[in-house]
Amino acid sequence: MKRAYQRDILKEKSLECHRLAGALRMKEHALANSINAVFFADAKGMVFEVNPAFLKLWGYDDRHEVLGCGVERFFLLKGGFAQWRGRVGEKGGDREMTAVKKNGTVFPVKAAISLFEPAGRRGLGVMGACVALTEKSRSEEFKRQSLKLLALGHLSAGLAHELRNPLAVISSCAQFSIENLTIERPLAENLQVIYRNSQKASRLIEELLSFAKPSNLDWKRLSLNAILGHVVKMARLEASQGSIQTCLKADPNLPRIVGDREKLEQVFLNITLNAFQAVSTHGRVTLTTRHVKKAEMVEVNIIDNGPGIPEEYREQVFDPFFTTKDNGTGLGLSISHAIIKQHGGQIRITGGRRNGTDMSILLPIASRNGDGPDGDWEAG
Ligand SMILES: Nc1ncnc2c1ncn2[C@@H]1O[C@H](COP(=O)(O)OP(=O)(O)OP(=O)(O)O)[C@@H](O)[C@H]1O
Ligand SMILES: [Mg+2]
Repeated sequence: MKRAYQRDILKEKSLECHRLAGALRMKEHALANSINAVFFADAKGMVFEVNPAFLKLWGYDDRHEVLGCGVERFFLLKGGFAQWRGRVGEKGGDREMTAVKKNGTVFPVKAAISLFEPAGRRGLGVMGACVALTEKSRSEEFKRQSLKLLALGHLSAGLAHELRNPLAVISSCAQFSIENLTIERPLAENLQVIYRNSQKASRLIEELLSFAKPSNLDWKRLSLNAILGHVVKMARLEASQGSIQTCLKADPNLPRIVGDREKLEQVFLNITLNAFQAVSTHGRVTLTTRHVKKAEMVEVNIIDNGPGIPEEYREQVFDPFFTTKDNGTGLGLSISHAIIKQHGGQIRITGGRRNGTDMSILLPIASRNGDGPDGDWEAG
């Protein structure tokens, strides 16, 4: 009786082992053949397993080149692994990340990140299943965007030319009158309104014209820190909101980039003004620069502690004329997107909704020859 019972138990256990081995083989097979690039890392962020799709996507030949390396070697993680894992939180979720190939090229991926308990290792590890936001989907998106901009450019070019001169006349007449006449207060105020609005209309015209001639860039070797110092000053003047705290944390060893000074100033001013407008009167706007060595890029982050951009708007904000503001034109970010693309860079929103907005702009650094650090920066 006892023997028969033991035999049954043994049989059941061996069946269970068989089932477990089968399930394990199935999972291994699924992982080996998955089109998703999968990695597993321990609690310290050391990668201990990847699948073939991961090696292929990141450009490695052998998994041993990858195993034992930190997750930060494969992704740009702001603040390092621990901070990033904190942001991922217990629930994990889908996110867009910037990945770095073996040869240093950066590329965007969509990653489903989750925390798990790795067998035989301490603490919660991280697992990620990634798909490249392929150049195809990116370039289709870019093409779609470019076509919109092209149509807009053609449409606006003629109109803009006609409006530019009369507007300049209105603006300078208003300015001259403000400076030279002693007139009564309501009239002076009206003149200020005319002046401010004609300036605004001129800016809109300039922006519309920049869609018409997107490829006319004046390439120079530039110091991004200097550009940002200047932008912060201009933004303070334009926003004229005294109690917003602005801070520029510039990396003193930032390498130079090659680009069009005016266009880049326009990009950073657009984004900084958006940040100023988002925080209203008592907020904080921080601009940071850093050298992303492994990607041969520099990164600018413009961070505010305003209400953030809701998930559902995140793609639309780069479309021309998308605005949630009463007085907005909705052109700032679409122009910035086009200019950064022309510079071979990337622009994306990285901040979570409740923590305000963090706009990240990546730009390639200038070639090594004669490329000194960004020494001539003056604080803004
Ligand atoms: N820092 C930010 N915080 C919150 N929302 C933002 C931020 N930056 C941009 N947005 C959202 O993106 C939209 C589009 O921005 P964009 O700069 O293109 O146009 P705009 O600021 O509305 O108008 P303008 O053409 O005058 O710049 C904004 O209307 C706003 O809803
Ligand atoms: Mg704007």
